[in-house]
Amino acid sequence: MNIHKPMNDNQEPSSAISAEMMKDFLREMQVYRSAIKEMKTKLENLDDSFHVHYEYNPIHHIDTRLKSPQSIVKKLHKKGKEVNLENMREYVSDIAGVRVICNYVNDLEKVAEILLGQDDVTLIRRKEYHRIQTPNGYRSLHLVVSIPVYLAYEKRDVKVEIQIRTIAMDLWGSLEHELRYKNKSGAEVPEYLSDRLYHCSQVLKGIDEEMQEIYDEIKKLSD
Ligand code: GTP
Ligand code: MG
Repeated sequence: MNIHKPMNDNQEPSSAISAEMMKDFLREMQVYRSAIKEMKTKLENLDDSFHVHYEYNPIHHIDTRLKSPQSIVKKLHKKGKEVNLENMREYVSDIAGVRVICNYVNDLEKVAEILLGQDDVTLIRRKEYHRIQTPNGYRSLHLVVSIPVYLAYEKRDVKVEIQIRTIAMDLWGSLEHELRYKNKSGAEVPEYLSDRLYHCSQVLKGIDEEMQEIYDEIKKLSD
């Protein structure tokens, strides 16, 4: 079912999306909102349980966001897909977005492995940008998973994109995104500036490694 149709000249803007389509679309967004809540609860429970066992919390905080309808339409257009509910479910894997900000770099994989070990979490895609050297310096562990969401009359498997990063990775990712967005010229960031951004990411990588070592040393002292 189409949720967005290109307007032609004699159409009023309001007739581009029928009331029925809008209802379907809003219903679909509720499913993704529920998936975000489910995933956030899973991660909070994981963090609490970790604290009970090890007196330690791997998660600093969790951010969530629901992709806007405009961004969903834009992404489908970019992929050359017709805008309808089926394509949205199939081709847009970040409608439900969860960002897990961890304290230390070793926490990233710990959180990922525990989460992926849960019976109802199915891994769809994993990108290890925290291990590889990306061209611009971006670092993060990305998972696209599917989890069941129980609705009034059905169960749906829903995709959630999870970005797991340290505080330092989040600092760099957020500012780099902001700077790219601010670059209104639409042109690429000049090379001498992207080199400096890359340098910042390397400095922050060093800080992540150093903080992990300090944490490990302090833990050894108190064991
Ligand atoms: P899209 O970029 O969303 O089309 O996704 P993709 O299918 O290529 O997935 P990928 O896992 O590579 O990226 C998903 C998301 O990670 C992006 O939407 C950004 O939020 C984030 N991300 C990936 N690369 C970068 C980067 O270089 N800088 C920043 N700031 N964020 C990035
Ligand atoms: Mg995205």
